[in-house]
Amino acid sequence: MGIVYRWFMRPFLRFQDSERAHRRALLGLKFMASFWPARWTLRAGCSHRVELPVNFCGSTYKTPFGLAAGMDKNAEALRGWLELGLAFVEVGGITQHEQHGNPRPRMFRADKAEALVNRMGFNNQGSLNVQKRLERYSMRHGVYPVPLWVNLGKSKITSLEEAHLDYATTMERLWPHASVFVVNVSSPNTPNLRDLQNDDGLIRILNACQRVNNEQAALSNGKVKPVLVKVAPDLTDEQLEHMVQTARQHGADGMVVANTTISRPEASNAKEAKVFSEQGGLSGQPVKSRSTDMIRSVYRLTSGEWPIVGVGGVASANDAWEKITAGATLVQAYSGFVFEGPGLGKAVAKGLKQRLEENKLSSIKDAVGLDHRS
Ligand SMILES: Cc1cc2nc3c(=O)[nH]c(=O)nc-3n(C[C@H](O)[C@H](O)[C@H](O)COP(=O)(O)O)c2cc1C
Repeated sequence: MGIVYRWFMRPFLRFQDSERAHRRALLGLKFMASFWPARWTLRAGCSHRVELPVNFCGSTYKTPFGLAAGMDKNAEALRGWLELGLAFVEVGGITQHEQHGNPRPRMFRADKAEALVNRMGFNNQGSLNVQKRLERYSMRHGVYPVPLWVNLGKSKITSLEEAHLDYATTMERLWPHASVFVVNVSSPNTPNLRDLQNDDGLIRILNACQRVNNEQAALSNGKVKPVLVKVAPDLTDEQLEHMVQTARQHGADGMVVANTTISRPEASNAKEAKVFSEQGGLSGQPVKSRSTDMIRSVYRLTSGEWPIVGVGGVASANDAWEKITAGATLVQAYSGFVFEGPGLGKAVAKGLKQRLEENKLSSIKDAVGLDHRS
């Protein structure tokens, strides 16, 4: 599937506007998952039987690899993701209020660098509409068979002082459908959002989310759900250390490392220079090493006792392995799917199994943080 995608689909996508290509791919996936011959084709090319069970925040994941936030903001292609052999799916960012995001164009592709720049600005249908969609899904198809993560963002019209209420409302509406919540205070495309990475803002959000979490768990006679914090790769080492301490002290169950960066690498040609000059967050290969370094720091700071999810530039099993051995228990990708196609989940799962065998390790758990022990 990877070769077919790289040789036939990718050159074709080059001629399309990035956001339009993304929209078509999402609708294509949704369509293919809706009737069995197409679903079967998808499954034949992309799904796999590799089992690499790993425990994360009390739940077992089939493999450590899943979909990162931003790809399916409104949870529209849920059945499609299931056919791609992913162990978990993160939808969103979802905000309390529906919003259109920034004016277009707002997504740009640098093919040679395998990077994207985006300034989407949390375009999404809002918590009420997504709630209705998830209710419809569960009525038709039952409980989602893999952990469904919800990425929480802040509505643009909500002030920073009231941000905690925005996050908490979305969480309350989507609580019955989600397995894990990710508090996103690190997108560079909502004005001043990253200020919420500071103590005051973050503590208020975590307190408000934990209040909802406890209330909903009591109402449903169930357990509270893990709440993770997603950080920006542009934090200094001191800021990261401080944020880890604050998030941990205020009940966050782990960290997603990391979001897109506002920094830019050197461009190798004029087209790339143009893409890199666009305002927004950069993702893909250029963020890979910074994200892995941050994972290593968080693992060291928490003595490997606090769950880490690694994201940033994962486009192969080797990339995923690097993040796991640096300290991530789970790994996600967004840009990797754009450049490698829908077979990425299968390639990563198979490759990780091989890496375990080569290193004579019996499980992913043994590989998590391996760099720190060797
Ligand atoms: C177009 C686009 C939209 C994104 N939207 C979100 C979002 O809504 N919430 C979020 O936490 N991260 C969002 N991200 C960041 C990704 O989840 C991920 O952290 C980042 O892209 C680095 O991973 P990658 O190199 O695999 O793309 C978005 C990324 C892209 C490219």
